[in-house]
This record gives sequence, C-alpha cells and structure tokens, in this order.
Amino acid sequence: MTKSPFALSLLAAALAMPAAAETFHFDTQLKDDPTTLVLFQQQDGELYSQNTLAQSTNNQILRAAEAAQFTGKQGQLLEILAPNGLKASRLVVIGLGDDALTEGEINALGGKLADKLAAKPQQQVGILAQGVPNGADFAAQFAHGVELKSYRYARYKPSTSEAKHYQVILDNAEVANQRHQALQAVEAGVFMARDMTNATAGDMYPGSFAEEAKGLSELGVKVKVLDRADLEKLNMGALIGVGKGSEREPKLVVAHWQGSEDAPIALVGKGITFDSGGYNIKATGTSIVHMKSDMAGAATVLGTVKAMAMQKAPVNVVAVMPLAENMVSERALRPGDVLVTGEGKSVEVTNTDAEGRLILADGLWYAREFYQPQMIIDVATLTGSKVRALGREFTGLFSDDATMVTELTYAGERVGEKLWRLPLAPAFGDELKSDIADLKNTGKSAGASVAAMFLKEFVGDSRWAHLDIAGDALTSTGNDFAPKGATGHGVRLLSYWLTDQASAK
Ligand code: BES
Ligand code: MN
Ligand code: ZN
Repeated sequence: MTKSPFALSLLAAALAMPAAAETFHFDTQLKDDPTTLVLFQQQDGELYSQNTLAQSTNNQILRAAEAAQFTGKQGQLLEILAPNGLKASRLVVIGLGDDALTEGEINALGGKLADKLAAKPQQQVGILAQGVPNGADFAAQFAHGVELKSYRYARYKPSTSEAKHYQVILDNAEVANQRHQALQAVEAGVFMARDMTNATAGDMYPGSFAEEAKGLSELGVKVKVLDRADLEKLNMGALIGVGKGSEREPKLVVAHWQGSEDAPIALVGKGITFDSGGYNIKATGTSIVHMKSDMAGAATVLGTVKAMAMQKAPVNVVAVMPLAENMVSERALRPGDVLVTGEGKSVEVTNTDAEGRLILADGLWYAREFYQPQMIIDVATLTGSKVRALGREFTGLFSDDATMVTELTYAGERVGEKLWRLPLAPAFGDELKSDIADLKNTGKSAGASVAAMFLKEFVGDSRWAHLDIAGDALTSTGNDFAPKGATGHGVRLLSYWLTDQASAK
C-alpha cells in the first residue's frame, strides 16, 4: 500500500464507512419485484406460502424436489433457475426439518442462504415466511443469520460481494421488525469483536484497543483506561510483567454498561494482542501465525457490552480487559522470573507462553476489588489443550456454580455456541505448587483444567465461570454463523444469557 497522504486519507475514509451492509425489510406484501424468491418447507410436509404461487410454479417445485431428492430436511436447499410463472430468475426452497428449531439453527439456515447467494450479483431477495411457525421470531432470527454470515472484513482488501436487499413477507411484520432490531444490536457487538480480532497485531495493540473501547461512550458506556503508571500504582505485577517485553505498553480497559441497579456482572476478557509465546517462543507449528486473535476474549466481552448498551438492556454489566503484547526482547519477562499480582500472590513463571492466566489473574482481582460483582465470567483463548480436547465446535466451560453451568449451557444450546463442561478439580491445582512462590503458572497434565485451577486462585469466593474459547475465535473454513476469519464467538452466547438474567426477574 502506498503511503501518500491522499491514499492514507482514502483509507481512513474507507475505515470509517461501514462495509456494504445487507438490508432487511419486514412487510406483509412484496413491494419490489424480487430477482430471487425464497420459500420454506417442513420435512415431508407443508410448503409455506405455496398458495400465493401459480399452479405452474407449484408443479415445477414438486418435480424439481423429486428430481433432487429434496424432502425439506433441515438445512437442505432446492434451487430452481428460471422458475415457471414467476418474474424472479431464481427460486430457493429451504428445508426446515420436522422439529422445532433453536435460534442458532434458524440463524444457520439464514447463513446457508447467504452463502448460496454470496457470489451472485446484486439482488432483490423476497423471502416468503407466511405460515412458518413462530413467524416473527423465525423471520428475525433468519435475517440475523443472513447478516452474520454476510459479514466481510475489508480493512486490507475490498470486499467483492455486493450488499443484497431482502424483503421478508409475513403477517406479523411489525413484531418481526422489533425482534430484528434487538438482534441487530447483538450483531453490532459480534461485528465489533470480529473487526477487532481480524485486525493484525500491528494495528490492534493495547493502545488502539483502548481507543476502540472509548468509542462506546457514545452509547452511554463508562469507559476507563488504566495505563502503565496506573497499573504500577495498583501493583498489577502480572499484567505489567507479561507486557514489559513489548514497545506497546500494557493497559487495563474497563467498559461499564449500568442498565440496572443490581450488583454488576463482570465479564473479564483475555486481551493478548499478540502471543509470540515470549522466550518460550511458539517455535514449532503454525499456531504463532494466528496469535493476533489472542485478544478475542477481550473483544468478545467488549462486544457484549456494546450489544447491551445498544439495546439499552436492563442489565448491569462491566467488561474488564487486561491488555498486553507477549513479546521477546531485552526487556521481556524471563522464564523463571517471579511476578507479584495485584492481589499480592507471587507467581513463578515456569513458562512465558502461559501468559493469559497471568494477565487474567490481575483482571479477575481488579473486577472483584473495584466492582464487587455478583458473578464473574471470564472469556479467554487460553489453552491449546482445550482445542485438542473439544475442537472448535465447543467452548470449554469450567465452574463450580451449578446454576451458572445450567444457564450458560442452555444459552449456548439456543444460539449454537455450545459449551462442554470440563473439570475443575483440586488435583490439577496441586500441580501449581511452587518451591519459591505462592504458585507457578504451569503444571504437567490436563492443560485446560490446570489453567482453570490457576484462575480459580484469583476469584476469591465469587460466583464464577471460565470459558476457554481457544480455537473458537477464528475459523479457516467459515462456520454456520461466520465467514472465514474471526467469529466473534461468545457475544451471542453472553448476550442471550444476560438478557435471560434480566427477564428472569
Ligand atoms: N494463546 C495460547 C493458547 C491458544 C492455542 C489459543 C491455540 C488459540 C489456539 C496460550 O497463551 C498458550 O500459549 N497456552 C499454552 C500454555 C502452556 C504453555 C501451558 C498452551 O496451551 O500450549
Ligand atoms: Mn501463550
Ligand atoms: Zn495466549
């Protein structure tokens, strides 16, 4: 890229502009002639809105379905080009299966449509949802799914896909529109998390992360940035220690949406803007290439606060984000060093690559000390061990709080960001005994559980859950909800859970 002032100002303008966005309108009748028409079919059952089509169209759908062995299985698509009796040049029938669908399953159907149409030129898409069970929720979640999957990150290369215009037709259009607006707030949070995670570590470092967070003050979020001097005053030696190898100084950012008078719920996110491993450098394999995403936990909790603030949700939620770049240099942390955390516990650093738990130790303590939260959830790309155990489909859930386990697991089921519980057991904690300090930062067995036991040392007697999202933050293939790249994983889960907390009262 050239560095002329002109090119730079163009770039700045491009960054300020939202990427071409899909538009959705909910209506009781089609307004514009669609170039693509979408219908839904129950498995071996009803084809909804069929009565609005000509007999010749219906006959063609029947023949095509038979030829393609389309039964309406969940997620199955039937595409008919140049359909009889319609102006539209393409007709798509989407299978709904034969069971009630979760929100995430409906989103995934929207994602399938977005994928199908992605490479097609600019289009007017008409979606006929009359008669679909729970039509308003269905329509809103379907639109949400289309939008989640249509996200493109265009900072380093312009997107080639054109924004599409969708009209969703159903009787309950007004309600669908309201539901969709709430989901668009969640989406804004997801997209913020994705944008921040997709940015390279050269562009996204503690200082620039803090600037992004400050942008939320427009929404009524209280944003606080602690710089190195502030961290020193609070003796946050673990965060300072991890960050001291980098030219980019560590920070701690707090973003507080106080939408209710309840005690706050604290969300603590790991914000390593690049994880080289430090002197225990990531020398083998390709995992180092993906380590710009090691701040995904922090991006997720910040995105969740954005989602709550945009909806003016009646929840009191505070995101605490310790931020540091884990680098190798003359000034960097050395293997064997001892750090003293804000809480006063000393930690022997047996591996500089186990840095996430170190900064979280200070983040968790800070959340407790300054916010007295009723509950804490931390979100972190914490261990390779989690990826080996659960892959990229499940998030590792660690908690001794039965209610949090149940509620978070349920929220994960609903939105399709599934959680799987892994053990927090004293035996893993025993591995963290050090001869020279209160504890050391690595053990020798089950890495994800040992890391969780380390964090548990810093949560006091708080109600607490730890989400290990390692591997979930980036997708190299795309998944049900996201194209290739950052997923924003966890924003939908936490938004759903928080909203549920509020409505349970
Ligand atoms: N950021 C990594 C964990 C990670 C690995 C995230 C792969 C996403 C994908 C973390 O800081 C780390 O390096 N963990 C080490 C800990 C070990 C040294 C005890 C690991 O899991 O290998
Ligand atoms: Mn590491
Ligand atoms: Zn890391």
